[in-house]
Amino acid sequence: MSPQILITGAPGNVGSEVVKALQAKGIPFRVGARDTQKARQSLGDNMEITRFDFLDRETYDASFAGIERLFLVRPPALSNVERDIGPAILAAIKAGVQQIVFLSLQGVEKNAIVPHHKIERLIVESGVHYTFLRASFFMQNLSTTQASEIRDHSEIALPVGQAKTSFIDVRDIAAVSVYALTENYDEDHKYTLTGKEALDYFQVSEKLSSVLFRTIRYTNPSILHFVWKQLASGRKLGYTLVVAGLYTLTRFGNATSITHDFEAVLGREPISFDQFAQDYRHCWQA
Ligand SMILES: NC(=O)c1ccc[n+]([C@@H]2O[C@H](COP(=O)([O-])OP(=O)(O)OC[C@H]3O[C@@H](n4cnc5c(N)ncnc54)[C@H](OP(=O)(O)O)[C@@H]3O)[C@@H](O)[C@H]2O)c1
Repeated sequence: MSPQILITGAPGNVGSEVVKALQAKGIPFRVGARDTQKARQSLGDNMEITRFDFLDRETYDASFAGIERLFLVRPPALSNVERDIGPAILAAIKAGVQQIVFLSLQGVEKNAIVPHHKIERLIVESGVHYTFLRASFFMQNLSTTQASEIRDHSEIALPVGQAKTSFIDVRDIAAVSVYALTENYDEDHKYTLTGKEALDYFQVSEKLSSVLFRTIRYTNPSILHFVWKQLASGRKLGYTLVVAGLYTLTRFGNATSITHDFEAVLGREPISFDQFAQDYRHCWQA
């Protein structure tokens, strides 16, 4: 049977886990990736992969043909919604997509500056069915973006002071995504997805230290120092400012709240930080 579900954002963090979860259930899907060869190497050969690039409208027709449900990830580098994301959403709906499951951001409803806010509005106004996954910070930021500083320098250098973050595991976001795509596609939902506890980075460092049997230090830099270090390591200014903005909000307590949407949807507790640290400890070992 031709797939009715298109996954974007694979082989990224959440998209890859959505792919695994659909495979585990034996549900057919298509991956839309901008580099199909890289996607095949990362995800495997046993799935349909088509070239899809938000920035190349010529990739839209083949990607959306026959698709009814879309898992939508906004790539972190694309911030201009009208120019870079909107055309693909509208093309998908024109091609017959009836439901969009969108990876959004915790607190997006109160934050009109982030692109996710505009994307949610565009989707609602289009009249298509939707599920918004308003996720807290990913635990996997520590095993991807922060991995080398933890592995090579045994430190975490994020500018969030003593504020707590209600981290969620991307495997849990994928589980809700698959539920929305396969069992709950003709209703509209807005879920705020957090883990079951909020931790500050001193606690995160202690937990990592205990699974790694060495001391991981939280250096607690100032925002300015963080920005300077990011730029010195070659990160682009626009990206650095967005990330610094998000961590500034976190510093002021915006990422602490815990919700129970995950349990309400899937009937189980989210994955704990301790479990995540055990499962990903290889990422921080030399
Ligand atoms: N990190 C967090 O804590 C957090 C929390 C809540 C929400 N979010 C949101 O989650 C999203 C990122 O999710 P993620 O971490 O799973 O993604 P990710 O790992 O950064 O991966 C992004 C994916 O998008 C693909 N991509 C990049 N540019 C593209 C283009 N022009 N056309 C098509 N695909 C393109 C990438 O392909 P390549 O592999 O070819 O590069 C990659 O597969 C962002 O919108 C972010 O704001 C993040």
